[in-house]
Amino acid sequence: MKEIGLYLHIPFCIQKCKYCDFVSDRQKNETIDSYVEALRKEMNIYSDRLSSHRVETIFIGGGTPSILDIKKIDEIVKELFKNFNISKSVEFTIESNPGTLTNDKLKKYNDIGINRLSMGLQSFNNDILRVIGRIHTKEDFINNYNAAREAGFKNINVDLIYGLPGQSLKDWEYTLHEVIRLNPEHISAYSLKIEEGTAFKRLLDENKLNLPSEEDDRKMYDLAIKLLEHHGIIQYEISNFSKLEYECKHNLIYWNNKEYLGLGVSAHSYINRCRYANTSDINEYISLMNEGRDAVISEEYKDKRDEIVETIFLGLRLNKGLNLELFENRFSTSIYDLYGEKIKRLVDLGLLYEEGNYIRLTRYGMDVSNQAFIEFL
Ligand SMILES: C[S@@+](CC[C@H](N)C(=O)[O-])C[C@H]1O[C@@H](n2cnc3c(N)ncnc32)[C@H](O)[C@@H]1O
Ligand code: SF4
Repeated sequence: MKEIGLYLHIPFCIQKCKYCDFVSDRQKNETIDSYVEALRKEMNIYSDRLSSHRVETIFIGGGTPSILDIKKIDEIVKELFKNFNISKSVEFTIESNPGTLTNDKLKKYNDIGINRLSMGLQSFNNDILRVIGRIHTKEDFINNYNAAREAGFKNINVDLIYGLPGQSLKDWEYTLHEVIRLNPEHISAYSLKIEEGTAFKRLLDENKLNLPSEEDDRKMYDLAIKLLEHHGIIQYEISNFSKLEYECKHNLIYWNNKEYLGLGVSAHSYINRCRYANTSDINEYISLMNEGRDAVISEEYKDKRDEIVETIFLGLRLNKGLNLELFENRFSTSIYDLYGEKIKRLVDLGLLYEEGNYIRLTRYGMDVSNQAFIEFL
């Protein structure tokens, strides 16, 4: 059976964070009910198409899936198991916001097979949390984190952002130390990206956003890599760190350019060399499902060369690099036959290096990775 990952998008949040451009917003209960019903219909559409696939990972993301009441999550999970062949060893993640989790919810998640919890903390500084529009305090986070451990979660991810308005290097160091003390299995640490259409973009345009310098942003990144590694939480991708054997299997599907199905508004899929995107309009999504149609608004077929280039791009994001043996098995040709000259040039320039079965970006290569990637185009 072919392996596949499954992503399911829940586009609801209690309030919009000032930096966030993900498809998510406050919604009335009726919309939430219709949306969950629409998800059920979309699962039915894909059930037959995926009958020869085995689902190795499930990721319920958002938005804030944890604002749904537990009956709704239970319904969604039952429907997933009814429609798809789910591996017994599935990695099953749900994203959550501190302040929206309760002991009952966490226990129920665990009972129904969700075995990985992702918690968005961003910062351990309550003033910063307020400035960026989060609904919770660091105390809410600690309470929910401890409750998750009590409920039996043995695989927890914490999302952090650095380069936030008013954030100093010392403040970031404090956040890292406090999170390390809690001992999570996985940490995602993102550099703040100012996205079009967000409250932060407007403030930046009005010169009202006090951001750390580019140099401090790089120092924060370096500090995260060093400090986390010192505590056994090793960087395995540009923004992702984990203890041994706790890399996020779902995200590895993306980075290894393998197949995934995205369900829900704005979800993306990659199946049989074709990338699909669902509509980003929640009302349109619900209407399309009610009419028995799929929600795909764009599809892009990839030929073998595209697939090769994308596999190289994505593989080089990983610290391990691109696995040459897997590459050769997948494409029945050695990467050196295709790009030998280019690889040699990038090695000479100090952007790439070869080690055993892998080619990797050097630290310099990571900083200027676009240049290395362009060579393959
Ligand atoms: C889209 S959220 C969904 C999970 C959950 N609602 C939360 O807030 O944690 C996933 C993560 O993306 C990161 N993120 C979202 N927008 C970002 C931005 N503009 N810059 C950097 N990181 C961002 C945050 O760390 C966030 O936790
Ligand atoms: S960061 Fe998370 S909680 Fe904040 S608006 Fe985006 S999806 Fe919602």
